[in-house]
Amino acid sequence: MSDTCNVALLGLKFMGRAHSNAYLKASRFFNLPKRPVMHTIVGRDLIALAPFADRWGWKNYSTTWKDVVKSTEVDLVDVSTPNYMHAEQALAALSAGKHVACEKPLAHTLKEARQMKNAAVRSRRSKTFVWFIFRRCPAVAFAQKLVQDGRLGRIYHLRASYLQDWGGPETPLGWRFQKKYAGSGAHGDLNAHIVDLARFITGQEITEVTGAIAETFIPERIVPPTPTKRGLPPARARKQKGKSDVDDAVLFLARFKDGTVGSFESTRVAMGDQNALRFEVNGELGSLRFDLEDMNVLWFHEATDDRGTVGWRRIMCTTAGEHPYAGAWWPDAHIIGYEHTYVNMVADIMAELGGEEPLVPLPTFADAYEVHRVLEAALLAAKHRAAVKVNEIK
Ligand SMILES: NC(=O)c1ccc[n+]([C@@H]2O[C@H](COP(=O)([O-])OP(=O)(O)OC[C@H]3O[C@@H](n4cnc5c(N)ncnc54)[C@H](O)[C@@H]3O)[C@@H](O)[C@H]2O)c1
Repeated sequence: MSDTCNVALLGLKFMGRAHSNAYLKASRFFNLPKRPVMHTIVGRDLIALAPFADRWGWKNYSTTWKDVVKSTEVDLVDVSTPNYMHAEQALAALSAGKHVACEKPLAHTLKEARQMKNAAVRSRRSKTFVWFIFRRCPAVAFAQKLVQDGRLGRIYHLRASYLQDWGGPETPLGWRFQKKYAGSGAHGDLNAHIVDLARFITGQEITEVTGAIAETFIPERIVPPTPTKRGLPPARARKQKGKSDVDDAVLFLARFKDGTVGSFESTRVAMGDQNALRFEVNGELGSLRFDLEDMNVLWFHEATDDRGTVGWRRIMCTTAGEHPYAGAWWPDAHIIGYEHTYVNMVADIMAELGGEEPLVPLPTFADAYEVHRVLEAALLAAKHRAAVKVNEIK
């Protein structure tokens, strides 16, 4: 087996940078059975590609993803484009026998997500991964370990929210606000993450969405001006508005297989909550609490402590050997940040492709399809104002 993995990355904006950084760093910080080789970066804008490749260390660049995903030199295709492109690109890569790491949400429709899951199941050669990166915060992975070790006993509640505030009326009509490109709004963007975390932490499937609200507060947004050769169009053209046909917020309640009840909330208009992925878990023996805006910390309440000193314990999840991934980074107590979760993910992908166990389980297309089914159940529950069983969503 080769000890390298040639990567082709599709997309070079926000996730393009986050993933490039991760491929660059992973084998510097982790001892890996396979080293990622930054083979080809793919994008639509030829002018941006050469400097991007040069800056991040990609060996080649290309504007033709259909050729790149078939190249015999490529082992892993990383799909980091807007949601409407995931299915076509991932399916082409799978049929060429490549491993595929796809950004979330898996696809922009349930039908496409199902096609991707089925293709992944059929493929004998390919492994699939989905970039639900918050599993790879040490504090989140440690929370999952505490739950799975039984430290909370039976789980009663999971309360999760992902609150952002960048989507007010002044935010222009980018691809994230158009159903044809994004599929949904805050729901697929943010609820997808917390539904993945809920399945990961509890180890339970969500079986029913009992009620939901999907709200579009801002149905029209300014169309971003397209620069011409003569510069930006006149000011009046820059005020043109277009339809924003995705949700700005989705809230729902759910039941889990083993009796846990959950609540989920995602929004892009919670002013002041900038990137607040939060969850609380309440079990018969204690509770856990996490907030991404303080991502090195996990709060733990052990109800079994004596009555005089029982209370919330603030745990810095930065201790090597105790907290997942901590030993790969800095001396104990030196915090890490957002970008480290992507590096941790690349390290785990390379471990799995090299025949080793990842430190933390990696979500596959089958996992992301289960997330999609829950998201779809929530949209139906909101539309019909009725409970929806997830096993009715095929
Ligand atoms: N895992 C995470 O936490 C996380 C975080 C952010 C984004 N994402 C996902 O990553 C993927 C890419 O998101 P991003 O933030 O890198 O996107 P971005 O908006 O930063 O970049 C989008 C890129 O796609 C290209 N593009 C292709 N078709 C387009 C269209 N019709 N409209 C606009 N741009 C178009 C643009 O040129 C640009 O290079 C999405 O699926 C997104 O949901 C995941």
